[in-house]
Amino acid sequence: MKMRLSRSIVGSEEAKAVSRILLEDGYLGMGAETKRFEEDIASFLDVDPDQVISTNSGTAALHLSVDAVRATSGPTEGIPEVLVPSLTFVASFQAITAAGCKPVPCEVYAESGTLDIEDAARRITPNTIAILHVDYASNPWKLDEVYSFAKEKGLRVVEDAAHAFGCRHHGRRVGSFGDMVCFSFDGIKNITCGEGGCIVAFHKESARLAKDARLLSVEGDTAKRFAGARSWDADVKRQGWRYHMSNIMAAIGRVQLQRFPKEFIPKRTLRASVYAQRLCKQKGVLLFETDPKDFIVPHIQVIRVLDGKKDCVRDALEKEGIPTGLHYKPNHMHSFFGKDGIRLPVTEQLFSEIMTLPLHPGMSCQDVEEVCGVIKRTLG
Ligand SMILES: Cc1ncc(COP(=O)(O)O)c(C=O)c1O
Repeated sequence: MKMRLSRSIVGSEEAKAVSRILLEDGYLGMGAETKRFEEDIASFLDVDPDQVISTNSGTAALHLSVDAVRATSGPTEGIPEVLVPSLTFVASFQAITAAGCKPVPCEVYAESGTLDIEDAARRITPNTIAILHVDYASNPWKLDEVYSFAKEKGLRVVEDAAHAFGCRHHGRRVGSFGDMVCFSFDGIKNITCGEGGCIVAFHKESARLAKDARLLSVEGDTAKRFAGARSWDADVKRQGWRYHMSNIMAAIGRVQLQRFPKEFIPKRTLRASVYAQRLCKQKGVLLFETDPKDFIVPHIQVIRVLDGKKDCVRDALEKEGIPTGLHYKPNHMHSFFGKDGIRLPVTEQLFSEIMTLPLHPGMSCQDVEEVCGVIKRTLG
């Protein structure tokens, strides 16, 4: 393949930061560098550092968040249910079942690929405790409405903002408001720690529980580790996991965060705008709608190919050495999550149309032109 669908953009600055931890710091695990990373994220988002809980993956952030929401919600007669768009990475669904809850797959809006609020409303039962909302393809579409809807129905919100680091909704940064907002810093996200993630928590008790739960629920262990100490006699009152972020990951993340505003944001937005200009009038192709009041830092470039021609476009690109992706196979179509035979017609129709084009700061605008040229030659 002559192009990559996505890639990590790291270099000598990240290498220097990692070698500082390896050769000078003397401790590779969770310590002072992790604390500094949380402080940097807090200052980027303009929240209190206490609200930021770094983790070793975005999936861990989601799992801890659903667990904390469950622990702080009232009891339900049946298994607690979480409304979630079916069109998302399997991590969103696995996080819900891992926390002992039932994912309830919902439809998405065809124009944005994000949770259809009216459809979600119809699926509320006395067991529903939360919505797991996904900022699909970095699109904070109707985010205020999602939070208002949740408030009106008395539901908590875990926001899967894995794609949306750096985005703004109506002027406010994603992660600067909400309930439990989860980011991913895996190898190909808007910023990377190699692997990693974080929660930004706006619910005090959930924050306390998630912070302990990432360190096996050893009470107050975060403060000890940040001070270079250990908890030898602290109590453990509930289930926890080993989900914390190491100094090495944090060192990479801190450099990435510095590069983000001046380097990664302009490169990602410019490449997406070239795609938009070239493809907005392309016959047989639709782009997802965005709100002009939102600012999007695109993690992936998803398009819809109409009239059953998706595979034909994918094959043509592949022949030219251009890889494509598929975000995502809807989760209700997986054997594990679709046991009750639920059908979601809008989501299934979208699944037949969506494909993902290469997008990352390491490709040139000329590469984008080339991708669009192949699509034009294929669809006319
Ligand atoms: C929508 C979504 N949610 C969650 C995750 C999980 O994040 P991580 O890979 O850091 O575990 C991803 C990662 O690709 C994602 O795209």
